[in-house]
Amino acid sequence: MKAAVYYENGGPDVFRYEDVPDPQVHPKGIVIRVEAVSIEGGDTLNRFRGALVTKPHIVGYQAAGEVMEVGEEVTNLKVGDKVVTTGAHGSHAELRAVAARTAWKIPDGMNILEASAIPVPFGTAHDCLFEFGRMQKGEIVLVQAGASGVGVAAIQLAARAGASMVLATASSDERLDKLKAYGLTHGINYARDDVAAEVARLTDKHMADVIVDSVGGPTLQTSILSLAYRGRVSMVGAAGREPMKVDVGSMMGGNRSLSGVFLGAEIATDRVHDNIQQLIQDVADGQLKVLIDRTFPLKDAAAAHRYIESRQAVGRVLLIP
Ligand SMILES: NC(=O)c1ccc[n+]([C@@H]2O[C@H](COP(=O)([O-])OP(=O)(O)OC[C@H]3O[C@@H](n4cnc5c(N)ncnc54)[C@H](OP(=O)(O)O)[C@@H]3O)[C@@H](O)[C@H]2O)c1
Repeated sequence: MKAAVYYENGGPDVFRYEDVPDPQVHPKGIVIRVEAVSIEGGDTLNRFRGALVTKPHIVGYQAAGEVMEVGEEVTNLKVGDKVVTTGAHGSHAELRAVAARTAWKIPDGMNILEASAIPVPFGTAHDCLFEFGRMQKGEIVLVQAGASGVGVAAIQLAARAGASMVLATASSDERLDKLKAYGLTHGINYARDDVAAEVARLTDKHMADVIVDSVGGPTLQTSILSLAYRGRVSMVGAAGREPMKVDVGSMMGGNRSLSGVFLGAEIATDRVHDNIQQLIQDVADGQLKVLIDRTFPLKDAAAAHRYIESRQAVGRVLLIP
């Protein structure tokens, strides 16, 4: 099969488009013919500094396609099913082998490009808001990096759950404008404005009850400073690529909390698996929307990663084999 591979970490130019051996099916797994690769925030980070567990390495968490082979112990999937899959690596390829446990059936008639972009961003945003953020109807939510994959999902899920205000940050007004259609109440352009001061102004000093922070580093500090009394930050990523050195001095007096969130640790549990299947159904039913920015051919993986890192993408960028 063809795959976008690399032999060393680095910028998007490390990608090569090469022939590699086809993946083998595991007794508890499946092999799919990939129809759409959703480039996740973790894929660009892994390309930059993640472990090369194979050489050449095929990066990538998430892809959708058609089941070609089924392991002998798998009973819930069959050849010909359309599925969206996640795994530690291997999405940037024509074929991919994954555990059946991290595959979800795509409802009949659903757009496979949209389905390809659901499990990790929507599952993560849901856990940040509800499982770890304990969000309640009427609360104020702040989503850092609102134009990201996790961000667009979090804005919609918070609005749907009855947040009284959904705030989000981004690096430009143009990026924030595109989020209005997804439930954003007010955008904060962090390149121009002080985030905590804007949260104070927009909330009449209440501040944010729940914050989803997938950027980390200095941004995590602005999250901590933007918390309401009893506010909760779900710290879920390091998109900013900077050290996580923060001052937590303001947490104790305000009964505030900071939770780390890692979907990968629970993605194979019944709780998360069933939740993601429901989120896929919600998109199929039109209750939630997937924002696809643009697509690239798989052979142009370098250009796609470069485009994402230029900070122009709002929502997801896909690769099509
Ligand atoms: N822990 C988990 O379970 C989990 C699950 C999913 C994702 N994640 C992590 O969450 C983060 C976001 O994932 P995603 O899929 O939402 O990412 P994404 O769609 O690629 O978006 C990342 C966003 O981060 C912002 N950003 C801030 N500083 C940046 C920098 N130095 N370089 C690039 N972007 C920067 C950009 O928005 P602006 O330009 O508007 O700032 C960009 O839109 C990643 O670190 C990912 O690994 C973790």
